[in-house]
Amino acid sequence: MNDNELVKAAFAARINAYAPYSGYKVGAALFCSDGSIITGCNVENSSYGLCNCAERTAVFKAVSEGKRGFCAIAIVGGIDKDDEIIKTADYAYPCGACRQVLREFSDPETFKIIVARSESDFKTFTLSELLPNSFGPDSIA
Ligand code: THU
Repeated sequence: MNDNELVKAAFAARINAYAPYSGYKVGAALFCSDGSIITGCNVENSSYGLCNCAERTAVFKAVSEGKRGFCAIAIVGGIDKDDEIIKTADYAYPCGACRQVLREFSDPETFKIIVARSESDFKTFTLSELLPNSFGPDSIA
């Protein structure tokens, strides 16, 4: 997998985002240790507290298909202008809840979080950079 491919998959996943309340559409693409890519988008609800982020959609899809180990996730988010799908966005960093959910299934020192502004403009962090001193399954083992 190259980072570019994963970013492209996140842009493609964003097209399906259901975000009629915020207008902020997010796509995520999760690279799994079995070599597969599982995508997700945000899914909002008229009862706002039930909105689900793109990253957690991807993780829950993957886990429900029996996947466990994850290597990387690419994320793209932004508001479309005049119904034109964005080509350039601000970097969309994962929320705290999604960072913790990613932590459950990945090694924070090696798991890569790729935040993309466009298909060719993105930045990479490790999960431990974005969620330092984290609590995880190993903490209670
Ligand atoms: N959102 C995500 O999908 N991922 C994040 O990491 C941050 C926020 C979604 C949730 C909601 O549908 C919209 O963006 C605005 O908060």
